Amino acid sequence: MGKRVVIYGASGFIGGGLVGLLAAEGYEVLGVSRKGEGRAEGVSEWVKPDAVDLRGCAAVINLAGAPIDQRWTEARKKEFHASRVGVTEDIVARIAALPAAERPELLLNGSAVGFYGDGGDAVLTEDAAMGEGYLAELCDAWEKAAHGAETLGVRTILLRTGVVLGKGGRAFEKLMTVFKLGIGGRLGSGKQWMPWIHVDDLRAAMVFCLRERGVSGAVNGTAPEPETNAALTRKLAKAVGRWVFLPVPGFALKLALGGFGGFLLASQRSVPSKLMDAGFRFRHPTLDEALRDLTA
Ligand SMILES: NC(=O)c1ccc[n+]([C@@H]2O[C@H](COP(=O)([O-])OP(=O)(O)OC[C@H]3O[C@@H](n4cnc5c(N)ncnc54)[C@H](OP(=O)(O)O)[C@@H]3O)[C@@H](O)[C@H]2O)c1
Repeated sequence: MGKRVVIYGASGFIGGGLVGLLAAEGYEVLGVSRKGEGRAEGVSEWVKPDAVDLRGCAAVINLAGAPIDQRWTEARKKEFHASRVGVTEDIVARIAALPAAERPELLLNGSAVGFYGDGGDAVLTEDAAMGEGYLAELCDAWEKAAHGAETLGVRTILLRTGVVLGKGGRAFEKLMTVFKLGIGGRLGSGKQWMPWIHVDDLRAAMVFCLRERGVSGAVNGTAPEPETNAALTRKLAKAVGRWVFLPVPGFALKLALGGFGGFLLASQRSVPSKLMDAGFRFRHPTLDEALRDLTA
C-alpha cells in the first residue's frame, strides 16, 4: 500500500485532527485547501484543488463542505452543493484520468445521516432507504458522485456522519455556549433521535477504514447509542451544571432557521452496524462518557 494520503478539508475541524493520527502511523499527508495553505500540524504539503495529483496514493479523504448550520438560502444551497457534489465530481474525474494501476486505493468520502431524512423511531443501519427532504437529496447526490470512483475499481466509503462532538467543532461549541448561559432547552418535542459521535472516535474510525480493506460502501459514522434530543439536552445541562431551560418550539426553529430548523427536528436513530461488524471499538460509546471527556 502507498503511504501518501490526500485530505480535502484538512484545514477543517474533523480533517485537522485526522492529519496528526495519520502522520503518527507513518503516512505522508497532503492537504487540499482552496487557499493552498493551512495550519493543521503534520501536513507535509498544501495544494490548491486544481493542482492535486492523486497518482498512487493510499487514500483520498474528502471532508470538504460549506457549513450547513445556517439559513438555507438559494445562494447557500448552491454552495452546499458545489462544495460537496462538485468537489467529489472533480476528485472522481481526476481519478478517472489516471491509468488503472496508478489510481488511489481508497476514496473515503464525507456524507451525513441527513441521507435518512426523518426516520422516526426506526433503527437505521446502512441498509435503510434514503429519506425525504433537501438534505437527503443533497447527501444522495454527494454519494452518487463518489460512487463514480467505485465504478473505476477504487474501494469507496461513504461516511454518513452524525453530529460530531469535539472541542473546536461548530456543533459542540454552539451547544456549550447555549448551555453554559443556562438557556439550553430541548428542540420541539425532543423525541427526535440525534445521532452523535465523539470526534476522536470518528477520526479513529477513518483510520480503521483505511486499514480494513473489507469495509466499503455506506458506513454510519455515529456512536452505538444514539440519544433523543430531550435526553441529550438533559445530559448536556447536567454536564455543565446548569438547568434545562424552556423547550424551543418547533415552529420557532423553522421560522428562525428555515430548512435547517426542520433538520434539527428530524429524527435519525442510526447505528454503526458496519463499523461494529468489522470490529471497530468505540472509545466513547455512550453520551455520558463522551460528555465527561469533553467537559473535563
Ligand atoms: N462536524 C459535523 O458535525 C459534521 C456532521 C456531519 C457531516 N459533516 C461533514 O464532514 C465534513 C467535514 O466537517 P467539518 O466539521 O470538519 O467541517 P469544517 O470545519 O467546516 O471544514 C470543512 C472544509 O470544507 C472546505 N470548504 C468550506 N467551504 C467550502 C466551499 N465553498 N468549497 C469548497 N470547500 C469548502 C474548507 O476547506 P478550505 O477552506 O481549506 O478550502 C474546510 O476545511 C463536511 O463535509 C461536513 O458536511 C460534519
